Parts: sequence; structure tokens; C-alpha cells
Amino acid sequence: MTDLKRILGEAVSAAFAAEGLPSELGRVGPSDRPDLADFQSNGALAAAKAKANPREIAIRVAERLKADPRLASVEVAGPGFINLKLTDQALSERAGEIAADPRSGGELVTAPRRVLVDYAGPNVAKPMHVGHLRASIIGEAIKRIYRWRGDKVIGDAHFGDWGFQMGLLIVAVGDEGIDPAALTLEDLERLYPQAAGKAKADTEFRDRARRATAALQNGREDYRALWRRFVEVSRTALQREFHALGVDFDLWKGESDADPLMARMIEDLRAKGLLVPDQGAEIVRVARDDDKREVPPLIVVSSEGSAMYGATDLATIIDRNAVFEPAGQPRDLILYVVDQRQADHFEQVFRAAYLADYAPAGSLEHIGFGTMNGVDGKPFKTREGGVLKLHDLITMATDKARERLHEAGLGAELSPEDFEATAHKVAVAALKFADLSNFRGTSYVFDLDRFMSFEGKTGPYLLYQSVRIKSLLRRASEQGATAGPVAITEPAERDLALTLDAFDQTLIDAYDKRAPHTIAEHAYRLAQTFSKFYAACPILQAGAEASRASRLTLAQATLAQLEQAMNLLGIETPERM
Ligand code: ARG
Repeated sequence: MTDLKRILGEAVSAAFAAEGLPSELGRVGPSDRPDLADFQSNGALAAAKAKANPREIAIRVAERLKADPRLASVEVAGPGFINLKLTDQALSERAGEIAADPRSGGELVTAPRRVLVDYAGPNVAKPMHVGHLRASIIGEAIKRIYRWRGDKVIGDAHFGDWGFQMGLLIVAVGDEGIDPAALTLEDLERLYPQAAGKAKADTEFRDRARRATAALQNGREDYRALWRRFVEVSRTALQREFHALGVDFDLWKGESDADPLMARMIEDLRAKGLLVPDQGAEIVRVARDDDKREVPPLIVVSSEGSAMYGATDLATIIDRNAVFEPAGQPRDLILYVVDQRQADHFEQVFRAAYLADYAPAGSLEHIGFGTMNGVDGKPFKTREGGVLKLHDLITMATDKARERLHEAGLGAELSPEDFEATAHKVAVAALKFADLSNFRGTSYVFDLDRFMSFEGKTGPYLLYQSVRIKSLLRRASEQGATAGPVAITEPAERDLALTLDAFDQTLIDAYDKRAPHTIAEHAYRLAQTFSKFYAACPILQAGAEASRASRLTLAQATLAQLEQAMNLLGIETPERM
């Protein structure tokens, strides 16, 4: 199944070729003047050399296209644009195809790859900040988009379970005399900031924590047992909170999983002549002659002898060579969905990995993103000035969702449990859509009132539109109205069919550019186009049975594609509201 843009592109390419011109000129795009045409080709303008007149080329190409039965009109406009308008018949066929397709018109990649997505990256005991929140939301969407396009995808949380914070906690738990078996999340959340604060002022405490970190990493058994407890308590709580946000991982590996590989990797780097001593530390120089800015070396072993964040990431790459089944088939790509502020870190790690031959060139990619800011323009903090806890954020958003539903008179007939479930879905949709509707590189301001509005480009608006279609379809089935072949006649039906057709290109763009916002844009456009169609074209009150049947098929196709798009963003739609 092919979208109309590509079908027409092939026809126009053939016409250019028949004129003795390069067929690449035949690429078509959506029309700049949707009132006049559906698609357009600008190829004649590109083809024109000094002598040839682009308008003449366009006229000759257009002449060849006129016989195409799928085209209602082919016109040359301005200096040589070729405007293409499809017949109602061709559009109806395509819309019918999409309606019957379980993939809603979205194609699979031709050569599936094995892709690992490293995202969220929460840490034991340390509270999450907005960087983690955005990484979770964007990473989940990228994972779903890649998987849905047919790649084999593994999402890994890359749990921060191995740094200095472990030593801090070990010492703090010892000092307070807490029984490890009774240790709770609340203990960790209280102890970590206390210990981190104390280590800043108290050098004796800091040194003990450093020594504890080293002893843990060297395998001291009682510390290991305590550490396992920290990891377990933290992970259980985090997994629950992520799940509430519709974020779930296939693998929950930690930085600690790289540890067993560390000694061998250091040996290997040394043997390859890449590891060099530098002021007591050991580093890999990754700068290149043509660098436009200074790229500092990757510190592998610190002057105190402990493995650094960069070394952990490097060893993790080796570990990840083996995660895909069947064994021996290495992954093709690792996408690191991490805050843009870590761009330099990843540049160093990737360069070192390529130098050491741990990954094929170009197979490691940092997918950075901007920050979610407060109204003060700084990374978002709670009113108390603390970093946000995921749990509190979801609670706050759900409170607001309940309030909004009541205000809008929605959900009144739902049972209390269904109302709660709907409020939760509205809350998650609001948070995620607000994030994913911006290009990921852009920073945005956290504004719950705006995110939660049922009007405008918001998650709640899209949920509301899909619920409206669901209720329309329920009424249709109660009345015994059935869907039937698509037969487009009205302009609003044409617009809807063209929008449905654009889904495949949207997916390709989202995939190629690692840009979920293109899907958010499409979902919004689809909902709006449907709204106009619904206003202009009566469905249940349609005069003729055939037109009712056709419009019901269009409504079903819209709902399926809208829900699929939302699902790729990690957003679930309720049945009723
Ligand atoms: N735990 C890290 C942090 O909180 C993020 C991890 C990102 N992923 C990675 N492979 N380094 O900053």
C-alpha cells in the first residue's frame, strides 16, 4: 500500500523521464494552495537551465499527466508549478484502503534494525528532575515509533545505581543505625539529600562516603547487600510511578551492570594504546584536528582510582552488543534520549567507542532535548523549591484533570472508578502531549492550566475528540447504521481523506528525525479536520444510506488512526468522558 504522495510522485517522475529529464524532479508535496490542488510538483523550476523555460517544461510534463485516470485536473501555475488534483474516486479508494488497514496506512520499514533506546535514566535515591521526566516521555514515544515501524526495539532504563550516592547512603544508614531489612523509600528520600548536604560541609563524612563507594565497588559483601536493598526499594517505587505515566521498560539494567566489564575494558583500551595517564587519572583523548571547538578527553579512571560516568557508558556499549537475540547479532543503533546538557559527555563517549571499535561508526546517537521550565524561565521546580517527584506531578495533574472535567460537565455519568480512570488518562495526556507537541530541542514552560485545557492543541482536546467519535460510532450501532464503501463528494470529506493519507509520511519523518512532535502535529490536524468534516457532513442524519455508510467508514478510519497516533505518543484514550 502506498500513499498518494508517492503514487503521484511516481507518475510525475515517469513524465519527467519521458521528457528526457531526470526522474528525481518528479517528487511531489502537498499543495501550497489546497483550495486549488491537492499536491504539487516544483520539478520544472529545478529542471530549467538557462535556455529552457520552466513553464514550457511544466506544460509538456502536465500534458503527459492528463491521461492519468486518478487525476481530476493537472494545471500549470505561475512560473512552472504543476498543480495536481485527485479525482474523488482515487481519494475514496485510498481512504477505503486506510480504513481496512489494521496499520491505518502506516507502512513498515523495508530493512528492520535492532535498536536499543536508553531513556529515563533515573537514579537510586536521588529525586528525579525535569530532565528525567522529559527523557521518559520522549524516550517512550521514540521506542514506540521505532517498534511500530517494524524495528526490533529494546528500551532500557539505565538505572543510576553505581555512583558516589551509594557511598553516601551506606554511611548515612550506618550512622543512623537503620535496619537494612526495614529500609523504606521514605528513608532513602530523606537520607540522600541530608547526606549529600552534609558531604559538602563535612570533609570527614565525605571521605568516609568515598571510601564506602570504593569498598562497595571492590565487592565488600555487607555493603553489597545494603546496596541491593537500596536498588530494590528504589526500583520498585520508580517502576510503579513510571507505569502510572505510561512508561514501561523492557530492560531495567543499571550502571552497575557495566562494572564486571570494566577491568577488561581498561586492559583493552590500554592494549590499544588509547588509554593514557594524565595528572594521576587515565584518559582517552578524543579531540580531532578538524574540531571547531575543544573536545576534552574522556576520563576513564579518576585520580582516586574509581571508574567514571563516561567509563560506565563505554563499558555499557560493550554490554549492549549482546542484548539482542539470537546472540551474536549485534544491535544496529543505540539512541540515548538524554538532556541536551549532556551532549558533550556523549560526544566523548561515542568518539572513544568508535576509536576502540566497540561500535560501528554512526551507530550511537544522542537524542537531546531542551528543558521544561518554570514561569521564571529556569528548570521547573515545585512551589517548595524542590525538584519534582513524579508521583507528586501525576497527583497534581490528576487533581487538575478532575476539576476540569467537572467544570466542563464531562464524565458525569461515569461510575466513580471510571471517572477516576478517565481523570488519570486526561492528566497523563495533558503532561505528555504538552511535552511532545514541541520539537524536542525546544524548551517550554510548565503551565498546567494551559496543558489541561479542552480547547487548543492539548492532550485533553485530542482525548475529547476521540471520545466524541467513539460515542458517534456507538450511536450508529445502536441505530443499526453500518459502515460501507467510501464515496467522497464533499470538500470536507476530501480534506479528511488527504489528512488520513498523510499519516505514513508523518511516521517516516518522526522516525528519520527522531521527532515525535510530527506525530503530535498530525494527531491535532486529524482531530481538527474531522471536526470540520463532522460539522459540514451529517453522518447519522445523512440523507442517503450510501453516504451515511461512507461517512461512518471515514469516522472509523479517523478514530483508528487517531488512537494509533496517540498510542505512539504513549497516550491512552478513554472510552467515555
Ligand atoms: N542517570 C543519569 C543522570 O541522572 C542519566 C543517564 C543517561 N543515560 C546514559 N547512558 N548516560 O544524569
